[in-house]
Amino acid sequence: MSKGLFIVKPVEPAPHVDAGEPVEGSLQGEATLKRTLDARHLILLGIGAVIGAGIFVLTGQAAANHAGPAIMLSFVLAGAACALAGLCYAEFAALLPVSGSAYSYSYATLGEFVAWFIGWCLVLEYLFASSTVAVGWSSYLVSFLTSTLGIPFPAELAQAPITWQDGKFVSTGALFNLPAIAIVAAVSGLCYRGITQSATVNAVVVAIKVLVIAAFIGFGIQYIDPANWTPFIPEAQGPGKFGWDGITRAAAIVFFAYIGFDAVSTAAGEAKNPQRDMPIGILGSLVICTIIYIVVCAVMTGMTSYTLLNTAKPVVTAIEPFPALSWLKTATEIGAIAGLSSVILVMLMAQPRIFYSMSRDGLLPKLFGKVHPKYQTPYIGTIFVGVLACLLAGLMPLNVLGELVSMGTLLAFATVCAGVLVLRYTRPELPRPFRVPLAIVVSPLGVVACLYLFWQPFTEHWKIFVGWTVLGLFIYFGYGYRHSKLRNAG
Ligand code: ALA
Repeated sequence: MSKGLFIVKPVEPAPHVDAGEPVEGSLQGEATLKRTLDARHLILLGIGAVIGAGIFVLTGQAAANHAGPAIMLSFVLAGAACALAGLCYAEFAALLPVSGSAYSYSYATLGEFVAWFIGWCLVLEYLFASSTVAVGWSSYLVSFLTSTLGIPFPAELAQAPITWQDGKFVSTGALFNLPAIAIVAAVSGLCYRGITQSATVNAVVVAIKVLVIAAFIGFGIQYIDPANWTPFIPEAQGPGKFGWDGITRAAAIVFFAYIGFDAVSTAAGEAKNPQRDMPIGILGSLVICTIIYIVVCAVMTGMTSYTLLNTAKPVVTAIEPFPALSWLKTATEIGAIAGLSSVILVMLMAQPRIFYSMSRDGLLPKLFGKVHPKYQTPYIGTIFVGVLACLLAGLMPLNVLGELVSMGTLLAFATVCAGVLVLRYTRPELPRPFRVPLAIVVSPLGVVACLYLFWQPFTEHWKIFVGWTVLGLFIYFGYGYRHSKLRNAG
């Protein structure tokens, strides 16, 4: 017999899990992977997935167009919203150590329809984020080739054919973004072949990234001119342009920089002691990244006037006026190229996993649940995601992509915040290894903060977002609704 739209997937209390012990998942029908990751790996995984295009690319335009030096406050605001969501993710990830992240949490609390919608929003997060970061990667690579190595690269092959300006798409005269397509194709190839995100490789990439950032801070700090911080909050020049309105608008943009801490929760199935380590991994990486971001912004806007930072590589732009730091410019470019690659990898691996979970629940065709017999990867989902990500990376401008990613992620975060409170009431008896302190306050505040940040880009890009939602509804009612295993069981 078919059941309602809001049917909830039953939650079983998770048994205590020890290292290396494969266990049954706590959601019915979900088996977990071999548990090898400890708290340190999880923190590094979080930093690996988080630090990328947000700080290396988007910060410049957010400072130049919206917040000025007060971009630091924008990072504090976005970080505060993420802290609220992070606490809620920590409670869920310890309670339900499964790999479906917000999709699985929603299925267990708010029902199938919401879970589908959030799964659909996670496509915006993971698929679109990989393309966005690939566009940032391309800028850094082309800059490195042309200005550092002196190798020419045709401009018409280094940019999307359109860009978003003054509320509409305009032509750039370029053909497509070849390096962005190339990196997505290469990383997708690795994902297809079963190159899993090894914690060791990730640790090395994180080390390079953090080392480069530390060098930028350590050496850049000596070139700060405090006059560049005045006025700290430039006078408002219209909606979203400087003043406090500009700071919140910029917070919605740089929110992108925090995306990825939630990817730690998709590793819950591979954590040695998820009950203890998931909260440490999620919240630890979030705290470390917040501190790094605020300090980098302080140095960047202190070295060079924010008015000059509206480039695709603002960290490098901040260094450029200082010939003595030319080596740091090269190091930053290499660090960014390496660092952005790991973000692309994590996102391109996460997306087929979400599709895989949805397919196992019957909400997407079985094709997405197929595992390669030799490489043991969800290979059809990986090819599908890779092709779509290549098209987006090659043809769409960075500013629109980045905002769509943030919108999808913010809705997922808001739902996770709401879900925590719902589960406290519907299943109060479940053992919760980590409890959100003052959930009655934190959870609604998290919902409001995330929806507020969601609203900022929504007012500009609502047509694209509504179109995306309608497409999702067609797919759900055309397929998922009729094939859902849970709704059609028994
Ligand atoms: N937070 C990730 C980045 O900034 C998505 O690239």
